[in-house]
Amino acid sequence: MGFQQLLLVASLPLMALSKTPDSFQLYAYGQALGGLPLFNADGYAYVGDASLSNSSSAAPVTFSGGSDNTWFGAPNTTDLGNSTTPDWSNVTLFVPGSSSSDRRVGFLSSNSSDGDVVTSGFIFYGSTAMLLADDGDVESLWFGAPVGNTGVYEMYWNSTDSSHVPIALRSVAPTSANTERRRK
Ligand SMILES: *[C@@H]1O[C@H](CO)[C@@H](O)[C@H](O)[C@H]1NC(C)=O
Ligand SMILES: *[C@@H]1O[C@H](CO)[C@@H](O)[C@H](O)[C@H]1NC(C)=O
Ligand SMILES: *[C@@H]1O[C@H](CO)[C@@H](O)[C@H](O)[C@H]1NC(C)=O
Ligand SMILES: *[C@@H]1O[C@H](CO)[C@@H](O)[C@H](O)[C@H]1NC(C)=O
Ligand SMILES: *[C@@H]1O[C@H](CO)[C@@H](O)[C@H](O)[C@H]1NC(C)=O
Ligand SMILES: *[C@@H]1O[C@H](CO)[C@@H](O)[C@H](O)[C@H]1NC(C)=O
Repeated sequence: MGFQQLLLVASLPLMALSKTPDSFQLYAYGQALGGLPLFNADGYAYVGDASLSNSSSAAPVTFSGGSDNTWFGAPNTTDLGNSTTPDWSNVTLFVPGSSSSDRRVGFLSSNSSDGDVVTSGFIFYGSTAMLLADDGDVESLWFGAPVGNTGVYEMYWNSTDSSHVPIALRSVAPTSANTERRRK
């Protein structure tokens, strides 16, 4: 699956790449996922309801783009309950490098060590988040691993685990059920 996704996106014309918005959030879309917000809990990326996380620092991420297409994240505290106090403020999105055995997607704080991770080259194709790799490939290899039956998924990159579902990460929030109903 990952290989097919890679081939597909590698053939997209680079001209269609879009400007990264100044400030954005990311939402996961997939077969059974209708736009789950991306959140950070203890340095790893998840999608779903951050309040279901067992981490007291879990919060949805508001991104801003930096140079080299590095994406920085800050907590969006709008809907957080009182028991959640994010202890992070400016973290850097990473996906694992191609030879990394840990395929989780996460965030580096400024003083964490790099390891085999990729922190630059994140771009938008339309409103879909992708990675422009050093070799010129445009990749979308996001996967979600269900966390129990919480409706929360932990984010992976280039996963080979068959229980993980392919995800498209987009900057567009889902239309609410109410808005859908009003339109009909
Ligand atoms: C929170 O902890 C409970 C009990 O350990 C576990 O069943 C559940 O999956 C956890 N939720 C998340 C989102 O990790
Ligand atoms: C923070 O989240 C709320 C929804 O919970 C959203 O309306 C708002 O636009 C977000 N703010 C930023 C800066 O991302
Ligand atoms: C947060 O704490 C304040 C003051 O103690 C309280 O009024 C409010 O209801 C609390 N909010 C939540 C979501 O628990
Ligand atoms: C976040 O950190 C980067 C460097 O790691 C810096 O360039 C950027 O200005 C910082 N952003 C904020 C909002 O502090
Ligand atoms: C994806 O993983 C495979 C091994 O499972 C590796 O050969 C390949 O280079 C990886 N691709 C990327 C883009 O990380
Ligand atoms: C580095 O990280 C540790 C915990 O991981 C934190 O206590 C410390 O304040 C950080 N230092 C700086 C300069 O950010």
